[in-house]
Amino acid sequence: MPVAPLALPRLIAHRGAATYAPENTLASLHEARRRGATWVEFDVKLSGDGVPILMHDESLKRTTGLARAVAQTSWAEIQQLDAGGWKRAAFAGERVPSFEAAIACLAEEGLGANVEIKPCPGREVETAMAVVSVLRRQWPPELPTPLLSSFKDKALTACRDAAPELPRALLIDALADRWQARAEAVDAVGINTNGKKLAASRAAEVKAAGYLLSAYTINDPPLAQALLAMGVDCIITDSPDLIDAAIRA
Ligand code: G3P
Ligand code: MG
Repeated sequence: MPVAPLALPRLIAHRGAATYAPENTLASLHEARRRGATWVEFDVKLSGDGVPILMHDESLKRTTGLARAVAQTSWAEIQQLDAGGWKRAAFAGERVPSFEAAIACLAEEGLGANVEIKPCPGREVETAMAVVSVLRRQWPPELPTPLLSSFKDKALTACRDAAPELPRALLIDALADRWQARAEAVDAVGINTNGKKLAASRAAEVKAAGYLLSAYTINDPPLAQALLAMGVDCIITDSPDLIDAAIRA
């Protein structure tokens, strides 16, 4: 099955609009839209009982205050936690969203998405399968095709096997010589990489090989402009308003 065509924007808001709102919450997705983003990136992992939720860390401590592993906490328990107060008192009471609730929010706001599969160790395939199953069931047909990404080749391989039509990007912090072999192995259409570590020669190599190239997490307007000048297609940023203004200038 051919991979669906992907219309990647020039800017994707990271974890929602993480500069302004608690990361990976519905408030953050709404804030990204309010600040001009048309796409958002967020991290999906599984609760202890296998519900896909928006969460970056393996521990709930930083963003909810509960010093417990996500993988050892049920969805019912996670739903009770405050995922906003750590950011600012005004966000107190914000909840950890399920992946399904996040998709409903995207539909409401008309937002596209880069869904980062962020499995807890050992749950790469299980997490990928849960993400694919929710997307198959619930992705709104009026939204652009989502981009799946992961640092875990195993998760992307599982996505390729289960849903070959869903476009995939391999996340690599610093591009090394084997980047293309890894991208080919998972049939990736894109490379998402740390923009602060990206050399112009590597950017040129990725583009010459025909891949979409996205750079994270760029909150500095001059750096965003420099990366776009190097051929980067898309900037992933916590501050969509600032970067949008810079790349329009
Ligand atoms: O997907 C881009 C970026 O989010 C990858 O790093 O750690 O912020 O998920 P991280
Ligand atoms: Mg991420």
